[in-house]
Amino acid sequence: MEKTKVLFVCLGNICRSPTAEGIFKYKMEQKGLSSRFEHDSAGTSAYHAGERPDPRSQEKALEKGIDLNFIRSRQFITEDYYAFDYIFAMDEKNYRDIMDDRPENATAKIQMMLDHNPEVVDKNVPDPYWTGAEGFELVFQLLDTAVENFINEKSR
Ligand code: 4NP
Repeated sequence: MEKTKVLFVCLGNICRSPTAEGIFKYKMEQKGLSSRFEHDSAGTSAYHAGERPDPRSQEKALEKGIDLNFIRSRQFITEDYYAFDYIFAMDEKNYRDIMDDRPENATAKIQMMLDHNPEVVDKNVPDPYWTGAEGFELVFQLLDTAVENFINEKSR
């Protein structure tokens, strides 16, 4: 079976999208689904290219048993529109930036990540970069639910 390839995108690729990718990898391993999916994450900016996830994101994920240390920030590139089946944007700005540059023949489905989280009306994952510890907990919770729902939808 063809693998489903999933890309998580935020602005810096050091807080939200690495958290989403780490949760996704962890859940696939837990569910024995690793062979059916591939994952990556990227930022619409190159501000932090080459860097590890923000220490606060790493700490929050580790608290839940998830290691984000395999991730290095990279910028979103045109090839991503073709290389992935799904591109999940963390907020409306990321979504607009991705849609604005989208080639006409792009093959990826581009969606808001939180469209897979029915518990919230506001579909933006709030940027925790400038906030305190509770921002990182909220991001984790929002993404945990969304990623769980997406995997369940896709692996039925
Ligand atoms: P992220 O958070 O998009 O969730 O990785 C940010 C990290 C860094 C910056 C902005 C957002 N920054 O401006 O440096």
